[in-house]
Amino acid sequence: MAQVVLENVYKSFPPRKGESVAATSNSDTEENRADKITILRRINLTVADGEFMVLVGPSGCGKSTLLRLIAGLESMTGGNIWVGDRLVNRLPPKERDIAMVFQNYALYPHMSVYDNIAFGLRRRSSGDIQSEGFSHIAADLLVGATKKLPKGLRYLSDKERSVDERVNSVAQLLQIDRLLNRLPKQLSGGQRQRVALGRAIARNPQVFLMDEPLSNLDAKLRTETRAQIVKLQRQLGTTTIYVTHDQTEAMTMGDRIAILDGGKLQQVAPPLELYNRPANRFVAEFIGSPPMNFIPVEFHAPLLITNDDFRLTLPEYWGSALQKYDGRTIILGIRPEHLILSVPANKNLPLKVELVENLGNDTYLAAKLTDVNFQNTALNQTLQVRIPPDKLVRLGEQLWFSLIPEKIHFFDPETELAIFPKNSPSLPFEK
Ligand SMILES: Nc1ncnc2c1ncn2[C@@H]1O[C@H](COP(=O)(O)OP(=O)(O)OP(=O)(O)O)[C@@H](O)[C@H]1O
Ligand SMILES: [Mg+2]
Repeated sequence: MAQVVLENVYKSFPPRKGESVAATSNSDTEENRADKITILRRINLTVADGEFMVLVGPSGCGKSTLLRLIAGLESMTGGNIWVGDRLVNRLPPKERDIAMVFQNYALYPHMSVYDNIAFGLRRRSSGDIQSEGFSHIAADLLVGATKKLPKGLRYLSDKERSVDERVNSVAQLLQIDRLLNRLPKQLSGGQRQRVALGRAIARNPQVFLMDEPLSNLDAKLRTETRAQIVKLQRQLGTTTIYVTHDQTEAMTMGDRIAILDGGKLQQVAPPLELYNRPANRFVAEFIGSPPMNFIPVEFHAPLLITNDDFRLTLPEYWGSALQKYDGRTIILGIRPEHLILSVPANKNLPLKVELVENLGNDTYLAAKLTDVNFQNTALNQTLQVRIPPDKLVRLGEQLWFSLIPEKIHFFDPETELAIFPKNSPSLPFEK
């Protein structure tokens, strides 16, 4: 086991035919050259020994590229990668002691489950053969020649015996021991997934890298396998970096989550901290489903916020952080679950229901912010709201919602960075 440290990791690719580089040129890095497309910018991240780190971000933000850099499958343009106390920048993948599980499983179709799991183990030791002499080559040939015979008649070298023990124990752990003789095409998606995991686990690496390993599974299997991977990782204690763009996976699996956008790390924090204290508007919108609502409001010192439809006095702890925005527009953020069905009042939001989504355990509304008389919906601001499932709501209905004051977020309209109150009441994660 080992910690993984990424230091100023930077990656650019030459542009593909017909692609413009102008959009990615950015004055903040001297590495930016006119002939390159920058994918990852100065990534600094420490994944602790034994930690389960989830890497999330929208499609194309560079998640797979980052994993491939760590695995050594892609070369860095700049920066350093440490695995434990080894600088691995120049080491080939084989010598990094890292196992990667790919999104598409990448099983060898012509090999049995057994051989798929054993492959990495055999390959790892095959490097030793040349240095250990001819007898090992002969032993390997014998293993190959007797492989198809019934179990008792097969020749097992010492190396093959240890491979056999390892394959069997991993297969038991993943409950695929009865599938060892099958070919990948004779397995279900979930079983293939476990074989791919088995192949990674069998090598007992210092680090697991997993690139969206559950994306091909149906919802039920996904939930089951998710729990299984977390349990296994706890059991093995192997440092893991897990890529997903599914935020439920991110919230439920990770010790911490690293959010990537446009090749830059946006925030690295435990799941609840990301949810409760997003560092910027992107994180606030990305974590949480349906996403946070954003409403432009004017701030008037000392504590009043207004827009055309409501006026609300904020809790006192906002005072000092917001003073410099006096008379200016700021962005208020409120999650769908923090808007509460209420009564007509100045401080409440008048909303006209446009869509009702009844999920059984929850009901979500998409509703338009209107003026107080529900005449004018030209504000063109649709909010997502969660209401109790037993509350029946009709399309076009006009309702008032209050904001839970302690759950309000604010963002700077230009930088989109979160504005944090100086002395807010302590939140659950702030021990
Ligand atoms: N070999 C390459 N040459 C040029 N550009 C590449 C190469 N590999 C990836 N890219 C580009 O780098 C960007 C990041 O790709 P990457 O595969 O890392 O994204 P991702 O975050 O894993 O996305 P997804 O969630 O869709 O898997 C994309 O714009 C992609 O087109
Ligand atoms: Mg990817």
